Amino acid sequence: MTDDSRVLYLLACAAPPAQHLPTGITLAQQAGWDVCLVLSPSAYSWQTTEQLGELEELTGHPVRYTYKRPEAEDVLPAADAMLVAPATFNSINKWAAGISDTLLLGLVTEAIGLQLPVVALPYLNAAQAAHPALDTSVAFLRAAGVSVLLGSGGFTPHVPKHGDTEHYPWAAAIDALPRRAQPNGIRRVTPLNS
Ligand SMILES: Cc1cc2nc3c(=O)[nH]c(=O)nc-3n(C[C@H](O)[C@H](O)[C@H](O)COP(=O)(O)O)c2cc1C
Repeated sequence: MTDDSRVLYLLACAAPPAQHLPTGITLAQQAGWDVCLVLSPSAYSWQTTEQLGELEELTGHPVRYTYKRPEAEDVLPAADAMLVAPATFNSINKWAAGISDTLLLGLVTEAIGLQLPVVALPYLNAAQAAHPALDTSVAFLRAAGVSVLLGSGGFTPHVPKHGDTEHYPWAAAIDALPRRAQPNGIRRVTPLNS
């Protein structure tokens, strides 16, 4: 990646597309993004040591899943945009409620205040989607500027136990990201960690 690459934080929660992250990473790289991968602790636990090594090799960055120690150096470049995919029922609701008890949630809650472009591509079933908290959380996040790709043109909840990771719309999420860096060329910062 060149110095003027745009940096995308791909933030993956623990839903089945988290076992197909190279697909999303490769598509984002083809769209010109320097991809840094951050996993929820549960999504991290789903990866084998071998998979984590492959993901670090593919992105060229450490895979992060937990907050750093206060004295530790940042290991990732600052983000220009974030993509939460797959976004779980759990993390969508916690994000909207302002809970930041994982690194992933810390980054996305702060991203709203930083006015970073953020896209969320859920992956959940129709029973989860029918819980009344979800509509409220999605509406809250959209009002806060997050592009939540739930429904037409994005992800449509499936019948429980009938998920289809093959057709998870990674490309729609990457298309929803900004195509250029900020016109003034100023890279926004994520001071919490990175
Ligand atoms: C095999 C398996 C599949 C799951 N699939 C989904 C899913 O598709 N969508 C979802 O929202 N949660 C799913 N979950 C539940 C989440 O993993 C669980 O709520 C977890 O706490 C999410 O944590 P996170 O949001 O921090 O990643 C699944 C769990 C397991 C064990």
